Amino acid sequence: MSDSFAIRKRSRSGREQERNGAASFFRGLELDLVERIEFFQAFIREPVSVGALSPSSRALARAMIQGCNLQDADTVVEMGPGTGAFTGLIRERIGKETTFVAIELERNNARCLKRRFPDLIVHNDSAERMPEYLAQHRKKTADVIISGIPWANLQSVVQDRIMNGVMASLASDGVFTTFGYVHARWLPNARRFRQMLECHFVRVETSSVIWGNFPPAFVYRCAQSGTSPAAASGAPSPR
Ligand SMILES: C[S@@+](CC[C@H](N)C(=O)[O-])C[C@H]1O[C@@H](n2cnc3c(N)ncnc32)[C@H](O)[C@@H]1O
Repeated sequence: MSDSFAIRKRSRSGREQERNGAASFFRGLELDLVERIEFFQAFIREPVSVGALSPSSRALARAMIQGCNLQDADTVVEMGPGTGAFTGLIRERIGKETTFVAIELERNNARCLKRRFPDLIVHNDSAERMPEYLAQHRKKTADVIISGIPWANLQSVVQDRIMNGVMASLASDGVFTTFGYVHARWLPNARRFRQMLECHFVRVETSSVIWGNFPPAFVYRCAQSGTSPAAASGAPSPR
């Protein structure tokens, strides 16, 4: 093989790599755009229960799973996963044997999730029925419950029903995480929700504000045991 041929071949394979790289970059953008459009359409259909214009950021997803020992969890539940802003990261972090159940109310979001993650267990229903779904998977409790539900938008009676399900289903050393938007923090329903967390959990931690999310948000990390969930898993304690 002549040198010039080798150089031509190398540069062609370099161009192919560039083309493949660009193609996967645009495929990623396209998927991201599709997800955003689908999420926005869900918001138009059900503004109150969807509660946001676009999916949460990766920064919020990271804050949501901080302090959750996903790797060693037997069972993890995600309530209100939307189009999967937290789901991908949860899937990356759970152990091989972990049962991961997602419960999403909005039909098209549930469909989008199933398309993005074909092997994910998705129940298109209200998280009020979480204990029944756990029983279907022969589980009594979950070690980690991660919620994307817009609590501040829910009627008190629905807040109560979902929270009762969380309390009935969370393992005694389990962790429950959820988030709120900074701008809605002082609304009556948001304050009621905070009080509800403090009544039910021994420990309620609030993260610092995740400014990288739109709109800016913060995370509640709650546990029934006295040890800090973040400390227990070796993660830094949020402010
Ligand atoms: C603010 S979006 C968050 C979606 C996603 N976790 C994220 O952060 O991008 C709230 C999601 O919770 C779902 N949801 C609202 N009420 C629910 C309920 N009772 N049970 C299950 N999902 C619910 C909505 O359909 C919506 O997909």
